[in-house]
Amino acid sequence: MGKILIINGSPRAPRSNSRQYAELFAKAYPDETVYFNITRANHLEICRAMEGVENVLFVFPLYADGIPVTLLNFLKTLEENGPRHKPKVSLLINCGFMEPEQNDVAVRIMGLYCRENGYPFGSVLEIGSGEAILSTPFRILVRSKIRKLASAIMRQTDRSLKVTMPITKRMFLKASTSYWERYGKRNGITKEQMATMKIEE
Ligand SMILES: Cc1cc2nc3c(=O)[nH]c(=O)nc-3n(C[C@H](O)[C@H](O)[C@H](O)COP(=O)(O)O)c2cc1C
Repeated sequence: MGKILIINGSPRAPRSNSRQYAELFAKAYPDETVYFNITRANHLEICRAMEGVENVLFVFPLYADGIPVTLLNFLKTLEENGPRHKPKVSLLINCGFMEPEQNDVAVRIMGLYCRENGYPFGSVLEIGSGEAILSTPFRILVRSKIRKLASAIMRQTDRSLKVTMPITKRMFLKASTSYWERYGKRNGITKEQMATMKIEE
């Protein structure tokens, strides 16, 4: 099948959940993987690395119901510096909310980009509760879906996959609220402060 280029579009790529998902994917993919975090300085290097590969996997988070600016800026460079032979583009996207469907718009944005720029569109894995799921026993569900994604990309059987925590919304809300309250407390921030718009004061 040949090697795959994995491109992490998270603004906090080295410490990101996307990095963990990319690592799980690399373990599941039976051929060679080449991994890049997008930085301000390496757009052209990544564009050059796309030359001659059959598959690219973008791994990124949902930010404000869209794609993060780190990825957006890279896509602008890629428009001008794309490889001669366009690889097939697949996506592994994760969001903080529970519903994987929250990612649908970002998937459509990427699909449109691919159509406009001549990239064949491959498989997609949308992960809901992406901030939390890897630290719960439900990580096994993510691993299984990532294996399915790797196999779909390898076999060229384009698939659209989704996964999230199999709990009720009520339970998710309760668990995530207490997680963020504890997180705030550790950093000296109260629940009331977190509920204001004054995030940088
Ligand atoms: C600025 C910002 C905007 C976000 N917007 C959304 C959103 O619109 N919907 C959602 O479900 N999660 C949202 N999230 C949560 C992230 O998608 C989630 O934390 C994800 O796991 C981050 O992945 P990363 O570590 O790979 O960057 C947002 C997070 C940040 C920091």
